Amino acid sequence: MSQEIPFADAAIYRLNDSLALVQSVDFFTPVVDDPYKYGQIAAANALSDLFAVGARPITALNLVSFPVGCLDADILVKILQGGAERVHAAGAVVAGGHSIEDDEPKYGLSVTGLVDPGKMVTTCGCQPGDQIYLTKPLGTGLLTTALKGEILTEADISVAIKGMVMLNKAAAEVMLEVGVSACTDITGFGFIGHASEMAEASRVGIKIFVNDLPAYPHALEMAEMGLVPAGSHRNREFYFHNLAGHESCDPLYLDLLSDAQTSGGLLIAVAKEKAELLEQRLTDRAVPVYRVGEVIPGPAGRLLLET
Ligand code: CO
Repeated sequence: MSQEIPFADAAIYRLNDSLALVQSVDFFTPVVDDPYKYGQIAAANALSDLFAVGARPITALNLVSFPVGCLDADILVKILQGGAERVHAAGAVVAGGHSIEDDEPKYGLSVTGLVDPGKMVTTCGCQPGDQIYLTKPLGTGLLTTALKGEILTEADISVAIKGMVMLNKAAAEVMLEVGVSACTDITGFGFIGHASEMAEASRVGIKIFVNDLPAYPHALEMAEMGLVPAGSHRNREFYFHNLAGHESCDPLYLDLLSDAQTSGGLLIAVAKEKAELLEQRLTDRAVPVYRVGEVIPGPAGRLLLET
């Protein structure tokens, strides 16, 4: 019998007892000017939902909108080359795709992977006492908005670009080796959204160590200038009821918590006795690792901000 499994970032379809198909899709308008890097970021972002459940990507299909005749075709070639480079780095192949003519370029991928349902990591396994780790800093929404507004240059946000290009592959491999309680990836709903969804799915609360939240260079400066993108405002409004302790929290950190991320890191819950091992193995694989919280008994979905 095939069965749908809820509580994960991607769509998961059980093929048999030891194999499930994992699918996800994402695409967006350019977040950086460099077309190759845009392609890389879009691919790393699309693949991220597969890594969040511990799946191995196998195939990817390109989704392209492009203003033919308005922009140089070479730009499109570079976008696709960047995407293909990341897909190959993930161990998968680009198996085809579809393109349409559009006023504004858009690019992304539909990605497919495989996972052993018994080893799959979901969002619903957090246990009180688990340590919460994040594998990339926050602030890409603030920074790409500043880039679009020509307040910062690509050189200014090079650390964040490198972070967005980075696959969550090594982080996912370490997470499977060590054995963790739960995982999600931080993307459009921001830290606040994805963390509260994971807490909700696990019927627990999460205490957030606000002062330990990592931010990319210049992200907090941009928040201070009020350059908060619309998506981040929406995240804050939508998930605000889940927050406790926000009265004593620096408003800039509330902006960071709500910031919509592109190709963000994994948010991993791990048993306290395995936390050190996870940190060590992530560091050995050159994956950034930040301890940003701890699972508390409840209320379900609650994020308790500790400053
Ligand atoms: Co996700």
